[in-house]
Amino acid sequence: MSKDIVMDLDLASVDHVLTTTRSVRRRLDFDTPVPPDLIEEALQIALQAPTGANTQTWRFIVVTDAGDKAKIADYYRLGAAAYVDGKTGLSKTGVTMMREYAADDLRQQQREGLLRSGGYLMEQLQRAPVMIISCIEGRFEHEDVFVQASMWGSILPATWSLMLALRSRGLASAWTTLHLLYEKEVAALLGIPARYTQAALLPVAWLTGGDLKPAKRLPVEEVTSWGRWGQYRE
Ligand SMILES: Cc1cc2nc3c(=O)[nH]c(=O)nc-3n(C[C@H](O)[C@H](O)[C@H](O)COP(=O)(O)O)c2cc1C
Repeated sequence: MSKDIVMDLDLASVDHVLTTTRSVRRRLDFDTPVPPDLIEEALQIALQAPTGANTQTWRFIVVTDAGDKAKIADYYRLGAAAYVDGKTGLSKTGVTMMREYAADDLRQQQREGLLRSGGYLMEQLQRAPVMIISCIEGRFEHEDVFVQASMWGSILPATWSLMLALRSRGLASAWTTLHLLYEKEVAALLGIPARYTQAALLPVAWLTGGDLKPAKRLPVEEVTSWGRWGQYRE
């Protein structure tokens, strides 16, 4: 890393945005409109994200119509109900893994908070002034891992960059996917062509109630091997 480049950056601000961009659900301001120019500005920044072979086959759809948002929120709730009932088509291993992940104390605690705020968003989603759905051209659910990684890897970084750029402008969003259990229905509603895959739905609003904080995460040493899998730094 070149010291000169780092000196030019306001590292503290960059790190602050990177460490405090949360999935905001209960602190979304549903009553203040979000200027379209600001959304476009954030999207412009998101388009600097990488894509496999620089294909840039991404598309973003910004939804502000109250009727459309209400219908999307209905599908989101149906998706949430299917998820809770275990009717998601997730492999048994996938479901079991998610439960096991939440087994320790920290994640158990976080899970309880998540259920509360997730429930709130589920009820209120339609009130978000803006929803953005990120999409990528192609259907790859039956492809091998290389193709899947290449496709997801060509839309998820931009989606995250978008959340970061919104955050640095005082806007909040939440990464959500539950509506994808009704992906086709939402595609039909919004006119998204069948060859596109939707990646995430971000409700966007002004952030209320002060700044956000870094979240508790697993220790970096626990999740990082050096040289060989399972070999940790002393
Ligand atoms: C792939 C993915 C899917 C997610 N889907 C949802 C969702 O449908 N609804 C929701 O409320 N949060 C969803 N989240 C947000 C996570 O719950 C959240 O990122 C996690 O609890 C960590 O919290 P933080 O983002 O505030 O740090 C999703 C996050 C990711 C990365």
